[in-house]
Amino acid sequence: MFEPDRVYFFDTTLRDGEQAAGVNLNMTEKLQIAKQLAKMRVDVIEAGFPAASPGDFSCVQAISREIKSCAVAGLARTREGDIRAAAQALAQAELPRLHVFLATSPIHMEYKLKMTPSEVLAEAKAGVSLARSLISEVEFSAEDASRSDLDFLIKIFKAAVDAGAVVINIPDTVGYAMPDEFYKLCKEIIEGVGAPPSVIFSVHTHNDLGLATANALAAVKAGVRQVEGTLNGMGERGGNAAIEEVVMSLKTRSDFFDLKTNLDTKRLYPVSRLISRLSGVVVPPNKAVVGANAFAHEAGVHQHGVMANRLTYEIMRAEDVGLTPAVMVLGKHSGSHAFKERIEQLGYNLDEIQVANAFASFKKLCDVKKDATDGDIEAILTEEIFSVIPEFRYELKDYSVQVGDGLSTASVALTCDGKEIRDAATGNGPVDAAYSAIRRIIKIEPELLSFKIMAASERSNAVGEATVIISKNGLKAQGHGASTDVIKASIRAYINAVNRLYSTAAVKEIKLNSGPKPPEDSAAA
Ligand code: KIV
Ligand code: ZN
Repeated sequence: MFEPDRVYFFDTTLRDGEQAAGVNLNMTEKLQIAKQLAKMRVDVIEAGFPAASPGDFSCVQAISREIKSCAVAGLARTREGDIRAAAQALAQAELPRLHVFLATSPIHMEYKLKMTPSEVLAEAKAGVSLARSLISEVEFSAEDASRSDLDFLIKIFKAAVDAGAVVINIPDTVGYAMPDEFYKLCKEIIEGVGAPPSVIFSVHTHNDLGLATANALAAVKAGVRQVEGTLNGMGERGGNAAIEEVVMSLKTRSDFFDLKTNLDTKRLYPVSRLISRLSGVVVPPNKAVVGANAFAHEAGVHQHGVMANRLTYEIMRAEDVGLTPAVMVLGKHSGSHAFKERIEQLGYNLDEIQVANAFASFKKLCDVKKDATDGDIEAILTEEIFSVIPEFRYELKDYSVQVGDGLSTASVALTCDGKEIRDAATGNGPVDAAYSAIRRIIKIEPELLSFKIMAASERSNAVGEATVIISKNGLKAQGHGASTDVIKASIRAYINAVNRLYSTAAVKEIKLNSGPKPPEDSAAA
């Protein structure tokens, strides 16, 4: 039974968040994020859309097997195949939730579904009934609810409750609603549906106009008790409601809301960083709650005020969102205990072998750097632990680059099945040249969709972290690389992405070397 004075958090970082352009998380990464979300005590983790792809199915299945402390949800359209796939993927979850959705706005019904309202109503009833026959906790979402007719919404939600749904979700799918209007819509729906207390109302708000958090909070004021969102507000287009913003608003303004949550807000910052690193989606410095500058005071007058009394300019405490400076600097002489403790504080959950591997990489790093910042350690973990795939094809042996004002030259040697292959190419800068050389070696021409490089800390000897996304024959892969040498980090990220592309292609039985061949004439050596 849901508690009426509590707001429940439904995290959809791994489903709606992962739909953000350029994000492509693998199973190890998704599992690590799911463990950290559970540790942060979200109430529900939406692990994926099982019918969407075999990869999504396996991730929902693996997360269902691993996560026992909160509910695990799988998304499904009202189609029988989707619902059965979701139920099957959730079979081993301790608290499974089947999330069924169907669009209800005139524009979606006419142009996307090509169905009449009465067909949509019948389809919703049938979908929820089938879901309820397979899983006891069913959520029904009326996609594009904020642009739907109120009477129709009440009718379809009543039918969903009668068919066994216990969570009724009101999505602002395209981020169109205004807070006052959304408050009214939610209130009228709650009153109009007149559901028993065993049913909870939920909202799922998008951020196209920057109003996702405001709309979620307006809905809570109207009586909604489940908020769907993602960490860092990650998601398609403008993203989803940022869970950290909603929970800190409820907490900071408890005088206004007077509602409790179960979320451990001290985990927000580490989990935000983890998601940002693994997804490659950078958190803007001025991002509310988890941005690097969220608690920084630059202006003299502000600094003076904060020194006199921090409440002059601080409405929340950095410690309450988990932003705690390292008490100890880790370096060459640090032992594995101190290292393990710090990675746990940073919010990582590693097994013994992973800790040993990460510690070995940390020691190697300390040979070239006197001490390692948190950012450096996180960069190592991202590359060495989460990006590793069990069987990889290519490994970097060595490389050299010659950087010119215009054209640069790179020579790269990779090993593949114990055999060394070397090639060289020119390019517009050293990274471009190295990537061309690698393409000549692997004999496929993946398209480079995204390339990002950033320093893991403020110092000039920081570890550089590169994230790339490549695609070939309809498959996409993301790769991470870290090194104090940014060219090496970029090369490693590319090779990691290539290996991950091959591993996905093997699972899906797709050939990668059909399609365009690398140009024969671009060799520089
Ligand atoms: O934005 C949306 O409407 C959704 C639904 C599937 C809940 O993501
Ligand atoms: Zn959504």
